[in-house]
Amino acid sequence: MTDPVIDNDATRRIIDADFTTALPKTELHAHLSGSISRETLSSIWQTKKSQGDDGALALGDPAIALKPSGSFPTILSFFQIFNEYIYNLVNDRESISYATKSIAEDFRRDGVRYLELRTTPREIPTAGISRENYVQIVLDALGQYRNDQVQMKAADHIGIQLILSIDRTMTPSQAHEIVDIASKYMSRSRAPSTTIPPPSVIALDLCGNPTKGDVGTFTSAFRRAKAFGLKLTVHFAEVPASSTEEELRTLLSWRPDRLGHAIHIPPDLKDVIKKQKLGLELCLSCNVLAEMTQGGFKGHHFGEWAATECPVALSTDDVGVFESSLSNEYLIASREFGLGREEVVQLARGAVAAAFAGRERMERLIGDFERVEQIPSSL
Ligand code: IMP
Ligand code: ZN
Repeated sequence: MTDPVIDNDATRRIIDADFTTALPKTELHAHLSGSISRETLSSIWQTKKSQGDDGALALGDPAIALKPSGSFPTILSFFQIFNEYIYNLVNDRESISYATKSIAEDFRRDGVRYLELRTTPREIPTAGISRENYVQIVLDALGQYRNDQVQMKAADHIGIQLILSIDRTMTPSQAHEIVDIASKYMSRSRAPSTTIPPPSVIALDLCGNPTKGDVGTFTSAFRRAKAFGLKLTVHFAEVPASSTEEELRTLLSWRPDRLGHAIHIPPDLKDVIKKQKLGLELCLSCNVLAEMTQGGFKGHHFGEWAATECPVALSTDDVGVFESSLSNEYLIASREFGLGREEVVQLARGAVAAAFAGRERMERLIGDFERVEQIPSSL
C-alpha cells in the first residue's frame, strides 16, 4: 500500500488510503476477467478441485498463474494469463456469475460508486454457453447484486453498467454478432433513474492483444454500434505496434467517446484529441508494472493529460492482475503528481465527466463528500 501524502494546501490534512477509499469514485476502465481477485479465483479453483474437476486440477494455483515469472506480467506475457488460465477456470455459469458478483463487491468496498465494467462475450461450448448467454449470465449476476443492494438499503451502494468488448483477434462477423447483442441488451428506457439503475449494456469497446489484428476490419461494426446509439471506447496507442498513424486515424474515424491508455500518440493526433476533449481512461499501475510506459509513475502521461481539458478517469484496467485498487491509484496520483485534497476530489469529478451514465448521482455523492470533508468546492 502506498505511503500517506501530506497535502500542501491550507488544510494540511493527510491524504491517505482512508481518504481515497471514502472518496466516491467512478471506475470506467475495468475488464471483468482481469478484475477477479486472487481470493475469488482461489475460491473457484478450490471448489472445482473439491468436486473432482479434472480441468481445475490440471490448472494449478491461481496465485502462481497470475505472476507467471514471479513478478507482474509485462504487456507481452499478459494475455497468456487469460487464454491459458482464467478462461479455463472461469468457464461455466456458476463461476462467471460468482466472479461477477465478487468483482462488484470488491469495487463497492473500495469506495467505487459507479462502475462501467467491460467484458468480451465468450462462447464456451463445453458449458453450452453462447456469446449471448454469456452476456445474459453477467447481466443477471449484476442485476441480482443490484437487487440485493436495493433490498438491504446498503448505504454505500454501487451502480454498474456493462460495456461489451470486441477482441482484436475476432472476425468482422463475430464483431457484428457482439454489436447485435449489445443493441439487444442496451437500455432504451427514458424513465427517471432510480437510486441504483438496473444494469444494461451502454457501450462497445475494442480490446485485446495490441500486436494482433487489423482494426480496419471492424470499422463497419463500430459504425453500426454508433448508429444504434451505443457509446464507444477503444484501446488506443497502447504499444508502438498499435500506434501507427493509419491505425489511430482509423480508430478516431469511428468517433469514439473515450480512449483507453492513450500512450504513444503523435503530436498532430494529440491536438485532435484535445480539440474534441475526448475522455481518457488512464491506468497508472497497469502501465508502469506491465512496462508499457517509461520513467516510472512520474513519467506517466497522466501528468500531461491532466493539464488539458480532456476529462481524465483514473482506472485500474485489471485489478486482479496488478493488485492496485482504484483508491490506491488515486493515492499514487496524489503522491507522484503532488495533488492536494481539492485536486484529488477534482480528479474524481473528471472521471464523472467522462462517464457514459450515472453522472448526476456521482456529482451529488462527491458534493456530499466535499461537505463532510470540508473541502471548498470552489475549483
Ligand atoms: P474479459 O473481456 O472480461 O474476458 O477480460 C479479459 C480480456 O480483456 C483479455 O482477454 C483482453 O482481451 C482484455 N484486456 C485486459 N486488459 C487489457 C489491456 O490492457 N489491453 C488490451 N486488452 C486488455
Ligand atoms: Zn484495458
